[in-house]
Amino acid sequence: MVMGSLKGRDLLSMADLTAEELQELLRLAAQLKSGALSLRCEKILGLLFYKASTRTRVSFTSAMYRLGGQVLDLNPNVTQVSRGEPLEDTARVLDRYIDILAIRTFDQHDLEKFAEYTEIPIINALSDREHPCQVLADLQTIQESFNTLEGITLTYAGDGSNNMAHSLLLGCALAGMNVRIASPVEYQPLESIVQQAKAIAGDRSEVAITTDAIAAVQGSQVVYTDVWASMGQESSAQSRIPIFQPYQVNEQLMAHADKTAIVLHCLPAHRGEEITNGVIEGSQSRVWDQAENRMHAQQALIASLLGVK
Ligand code: CP
Ligand code: NVA
Repeated sequence: MVMGSLKGRDLLSMADLTAEELQELLRLAAQLKSGALSLRCEKILGLLFYKASTRTRVSFTSAMYRLGGQVLDLNPNVTQVSRGEPLEDTARVLDRYIDILAIRTFDQHDLEKFAEYTEIPIINALSDREHPCQVLADLQTIQESFNTLEGITLTYAGDGSNNMAHSLLLGCALAGMNVRIASPVEYQPLESIVQQAKAIAGDRSEVAITTDAIAAVQGSQVVYTDVWASMGQESSAQSRIPIFQPYQVNEQLMAHADKTAIVLHCLPAHRGEEITNGVIEGSQSRVWDQAENRMHAQQALIASLLGVK
């Protein structure tokens, strides 16, 4: 059974979901993964990606093919988008041709504009601000490891101002998890997102921002990291290395985490920077299951937004 409440909606931010809708999506993703449920939909998914992607592009494509649907790659370089056609016009035209659209963009406002000018569901496939599809898969992976999300503590060590940190703050709060962001003082999350996460968590769970990675991982069951320089920030990559070094997820940091802790990374990883080779290849790493779950979680998302039964 696929719930009806998400039909026709957009997913621009993790905060577009209620706690119940998130649980329902994760339940559906688990059923699709186990084979307990199989869904069919002969619809067309568009991918409009302004940045590189391996996992998101291929997992969305595979998820749609597995549903029996089709995928159109709307490469900005070969459409009129790259020649400056207004997004409002592009949005209204695409709305007539396809059934659902996933967009990867440098600017969250582009997503908001597409959502305003279309009837079809718009999915944030990564923006400067958030990466909600990744967090759906992350939560599925944590649930598989611990059989629950509620009360689990996740520490994210690294660039607290990036898309992953923001979506993890919101997603963990929605799931009833404790979330700690450990980052240099000049790379902390947007205050508006921290406040939003705290409002979602209420007195159910903890939302903490710190500069102390060692203190943060103590008592954590999930240790998460991401690149120190995100796409579009390549010019500052070298200067960020010494600033972020104390936040590297390495064997010494992991020794302070819970003994049962797992390690997650959205990938792609820079071994020797935000994570050591030993940790990403070690027994606590769940990164390949996490990457696989992108496909299951997004299949559940597409089916729910399209109202497939
Ligand atoms: N994690 C993730 O979104 O990977 P891609 O950039 O390869 O899509
Ligand atoms: N923060 C990274 C995530 C990549 C999946 C980036 O935006 O490049």
